Amino acid sequence: MKVVKGPVVVTGASGYVGSWLVMKLLENGYTVRATVRDPKDLRKIKPLLDLRGSDEQLTIWKADLNEEGSFDDAFNGCTGVFHVATPMDFESIDPENEVIKPTINGVLSILRSCKKVGTVKRVIFTSSAGAVKFQEEQMLEYDENSWSDIDFCRRVKMTGWMYFVSKTLAEKAAWEFAKENDIQLISIIPTLVVGPFISTSMPPSMITALSLITGNDSHYSILKQIQLVHLDDLCVAHIFLFEKPEASGRYICSSYDTTIWDLAKFMKDRYPQYAIPQEFEGIDERIKPVRFSSKKLMDLGFNYQYTMEEMFDEGIHSCTEKKLLPLQTQELFYINDKIDLGGSKMNSIKEMMRGQSEQLSMYTMEEMFDEGIHSCTEKNLLPLQTQELFYINDKIDLGGSKMNSIKEMMRGQSEQLSTLFH
Ligand SMILES: NC(=O)c1ccc[n+]([C@@H]2O[C@H](COP(=O)([O-])OP(=O)(O)OC[C@H]3O[C@@H](n4cnc5c(N)ncnc54)[C@H](OP(=O)(O)O)[C@@H]3O)[C@@H](O)[C@H]2O)c1
Repeated sequence: MKVVKGPVVVTGASGYVGSWLVMKLLENGYTVRATVRDPKDLRKIKPLLDLRGSDEQLTIWKADLNEEGSFDDAFNGCTGVFHVATPMDFESIDPENEVIKPTINGVLSILRSCKKVGTVKRVIFTSSAGAVKFQEEQMLEYDENSWSDIDFCRRVKMTGWMYFVSKTLAEKAAWEFAKENDIQLISIIPTLVVGPFISTSMPPSMITALSLITGNDSHYSILKQIQLVHLDDLCVAHIFLFEKPEASGRYICSSYDTTIWDLAKFMKDRYPQYAIPQEFEGIDERIKPVRFSSKKLMDLGFNYQYTMEEMFDEGIHSCTEKKLLPLQTQELFYINDKIDLGGSKMNSIKEMMRGQSEQLSMYTMEEMFDEGIHSCTEKNLLPLQTQELFYINDKIDLGGSKMNSIKEMMRGQSEQLSTLFH
């Protein structure tokens, strides 16, 4: 007989981590209540509805971190809560109100709901390496005793600072509330999560992890001394910590440490189809990796299953399959170097590559050029071919002025002549 476990709640269930966690919980026989902000948003919900077991084991609930009491209904009768949701907008123009406050108030509102319903035995809070490692003096190894210095983050304002502040303050507030109210809380601290995904948009962490491919250099400071974990390992660890009676406190979940220099070499060798930068101005080439120790988690019996190759192979595969990343960039950068596609065109292409513009991302480079050239030839703005023309000019010499007119026409500077070629 199939054992049914739960019900448990996953908040932020349509996100990168949340959706994969829902999938793993269903596979492990749990009944799952998935909370999202907008259950009518089918684009986000469909990957959850398509999961095996969703018919019998999954229900979707509406809840928002900004609304006190909004999780009460979903939590009522549940044995566990995986609090994964978080606002993660690194470009926010109002970081205090859009990122920091909702994260802190959100976790407190969730813990108050747990207390109110009285059935929740354990809460697993997905914290972040951002709550651990941002300090004036960089250490070479971190464990669960370390906390980020929020004054330092607010002063330096490194990329993602508001997110690091939000996670640090939220986790601290959660511990305080849990202790005062006798709630069994466990926090899991992932480093940069990389791997395949079922969610629909470009995951925030993949924007960082693949920034060497997309050229999104504002994220290079995050990659400078980076730690990584595979999404599947992270979700299995969430369930492991939920099920292990003796688990308590904070747990780092991280399996690889590297530097931007080593990552760039690794990516250049493994993905020759992409133009990967090999020079990073202002980042010392002799920097050492900073380690995140998973000793506490591993001493409890947890083992990591995935290599760094698998994280990136599978992550890149998901991105290209969903048309969130071009299949290659070598040719594109080469063309821009030689011909200069023009600042605004190249910027749109870069935006698309960073996942900031989904509009363009539906098209391959082949489609861009095939369709563009087709429109030009159809409107007599470009000859059907130039091979023969250049050949004739080489052999017979059409004469400077004729050739200049032809070239003008080809550049679209003179429409009058353009019909001659059709
Ligand atoms: N990915 C990483 O590298 C990484 C590393 C360390 C820690 N983490 C932690 O892992 C968790 C998940 O991150 P992720 O990578 O999966 O990010 P994500 O894809 O952006 O997912 C975050 C989810 O949070 C939800 N959310 C945002 N604001 C909300 C609000 N006001 N009320 C309710 N839900 C809200 C969003 O839900 P909607 O679908 O409703 O918009 C979204 O599905 C976060 O707690 C993050 O701090 C992630």
